[in-house]
Amino acid sequence: MNIEDLIVDDREWGIFRYHRSALTSPEIPPIERERIFSRCWLYLGHESEVENPGDYRRRNVGGRPLFYTRTKEGDIRVFYNTCRHRGALICRHETGNGEVFQCFYHAWTFNNRGDLIGVPDEAGYAASFRKEDYGLLSPPRVENYRGLIFVSYNPDVEPLVDYLAGAKEYVDMVMDQSEAGFRVVPGSNKYDIQANWKLLMENSIDQYHAFPTHKTFFDYMATIWPDVPRSSTGHGRELGNGHAMMEFPATAGRPIALWTPFFPEEMREDMERDRARLTQKFGEERAHRMTENHRNLFIYPNLVINDVNAITIRNFEPLDVDRMQVTAWHMVPRDDDGLSLAMRLDSFLTFLGPGGFATPDDSEALETCQAGFAAKEVEWSDISRGSRRQPQAVDELQMRGFWRRWHADMLGLPPHTSDHAPESAVAVDD
Ligand code: FES
Ligand SMILES: [Fe+2]
Repeated sequence: MNIEDLIVDDREWGIFRYHRSALTSPEIPPIERERIFSRCWLYLGHESEVENPGDYRRRNVGGRPLFYTRTKEGDIRVFYNTCRHRGALICRHETGNGEVFQCFYHAWTFNNRGDLIGVPDEAGYAASFRKEDYGLLSPPRVENYRGLIFVSYNPDVEPLVDYLAGAKEYVDMVMDQSEAGFRVVPGSNKYDIQANWKLLMENSIDQYHAFPTHKTFFDYMATIWPDVPRSSTGHGRELGNGHAMMEFPATAGRPIALWTPFFPEEMREDMERDRARLTQKFGEERAHRMTENHRNLFIYPNLVINDVNAITIRNFEPLDVDRMQVTAWHMVPRDDDGLSLAMRLDSFLTFLGPGGFATPDDSEALETCQAGFAAKEVEWSDISRGSRRQPQAVDELQMRGFWRRWHADMLGLPPHTSDHAPESAVAVDD
């Protein structure tokens, strides 16, 4: 397999294909781990998940076991979840609160600043043994953008805000919706999909599939709102560095979208007040987009923020070439309560939850693609849609941006070498 040949990208003729071995060959994941997951910024978690001193969360990020915790001084520390003695996982609960972490294997004890503070029978070690040399280690780079904490295993990675490039504006567009800030609701949805992780990237920024794949959902919506739109509008954008988004009118409604029939009359006053506040602060156009549109924001390589009624953070870890683990969290304004919070939570489970209207359909679609790849005589997948017009949400520009960055990374090239530059400079037909 030659990585160079995995993508056919002919901008003049509007051709874009990738070779399906990029999603089936066992040679691919180790290279991705090295050239993508060991080099990029990767999402770790939200700061609200460790709200109080001593709170901790365990995560698997880019194939490494990590945990993060808030110290009593209030700062957040991230550690590799492996004992400096002989490797056991230090933090074995998904979440909890504690001032110290004691390894269950031989009982070395660390405080939540990572210092080794206790070694049973320390006298058994030579004089050269110093506890200060055996503190827990941390990833070389950890940064927080508006509550979203990212890590990188690459000490030379660019600053997170530079890495986010055009995605920063869309993270702001989410976070600016609440004056009180956001919190992640405790708990998460975690499930595996028997498919390559890149298929979920595609699915997350693919409006083209919405009506055929999610027919059941739209049929259900029509029972509440007979005039529910049945065709897609909206646009897609590359945001640089492999990030992308699609934005479209909020057919499913959101707590601050006034034009859909899904929200009860008693919420109207609050919704109008929120809308007026956002208009005053951000202007009519931006406030309109924040309140009336949905966005799916993809942050390379494996984070999605669905800025819909139920704001969802979704992260997917490759487990094998044909298997990924998905974790989804629901994020709500800190001051949201009562009916508004209930509606957000309900919407989260109704559509994006693992038993909701969307997720089982999407998982099935991805798993059938992966199953279809077993016909390996059929070698190429096509994502050329929309390459010769203003990119719409139903087009595939969003995915091409990912694949160009992926290809550059896999080849060890800087992301914006001429063959991998964004499409925005290309002339369009309409
Ligand atoms: S592996 Fe942790 S104390 Fe031995
Ligand atoms: Fe979907």
